[in-house]
Order: sequence, then C-alpha cells, then structure tokens
Amino acid sequence: MTETMTCQADAITPELLAEADELVSHYPVSKRSASLPLLHLWQNHFGFIDDSGVEWIAAKLELTPVNILEVVTFYPWFRRERAGKTIIRVCRTLACAMAGSYEVREKFCQSVGIDPHCHSHGFGEAPPTSSDGNFSVEFVECLASCGSAPVALINDELVENIALSDVPAIVDQYK
Ligand code: FES
Repeated sequence: MTETMTCQADAITPELLAEADELVSHYPVSKRSASLPLLHLWQNHFGFIDDSGVEWIAAKLELTPVNILEVVTFYPWFRRERAGKTIIRVCRTLACAMAGSYEVREKFCQSVGIDPHCHSHGFGEAPPTSSDGNFSVEFVECLASCGSAPVALINDELVENIALSDVPAIVDQYK
C-alpha cells in the first residue's frame, strides 16, 4: 500500500464516521447492502477510493476487501485515482452521438486543455484531466435525457441541448 493510499483512512473525520455509521444502520439485516452507499460517501469525501478505503469499508461491513473491490471495479462511476475538481461526462449513446456528442466532447477537451485523443483505459482509472487538476472529461453511456441530446453531466448538473458554440461559456461557469 502506498503512502497516499494510507492517508485516506488516516483522514477519516468524526463527521464522516458518523455518516458511515448512520448509513450502515439502514441495513440491519445485511450490512453488505451498505457497500454502495459507503463507496459513494467515500468517493464524495476523498474524490476517489484507494486501497485503504476498500479495506476500511470491508472491515466496517464485516467483509473481505475483495468483496468491496469487485464493486468498485464493476461500476465505472467509482474511481481508484483522483480526477479533476470538475468532471464533465459527455453522453456517447446513440441519440447523443447522432446529435454531435463526439464533437461536443472534443470541444470540451479543447476548452479545458485536454488532448481530445486521450481516453482512460481501464475501470477505476481517472479520466483525462487537465494539467491544473481542475477538469476531467470522459464519455459515459445514456444519461436518460435522450430527447435533449447532446447532453453532459457536469459534476451533478445535467446540461442539455449543448451546441458547440456554447461549450466555452459552459466551461467558464466552472472555473
Ligand atoms: S443517448 Fe444521450 S441521454 Fe440518452
């Protein structure tokens, strides 16, 4: 385990611990069911999930680390590496692709200083991130807003009907 990885579990605050305990209390019959809520809590707090997080959550739920790791590596939403402060997720499924989402992703990349030809290669890997650490851009599958394609999820905000000319102004809102 690297030093960085050790730091996350070492940095658990009393508030985070209380929140984790509260989440686990919702699943009195099967603690394992708290895996996803705890992983979301951890990633929201630390930005990604390191080995110490996997081990801490496993211990909390009386599981083995591999039980948690298989969840982390199954869902693309979870990251094992730090991403940018603002994450731009552009939908690439059919309706959005036909409405120009590949060009939209390229424009977002150019607007935040990321090589548009750069993609992450594996589950848990951080998406391409700007050198200042402020932005990551990645493709995702359908965001359930096909009628307003092309769309992107920027952190927690859904942005619809994106025109290429809108992209620089959208990015400016997150600088
Ligand atoms: S295809 Fe993009 S939101 Fe459904």
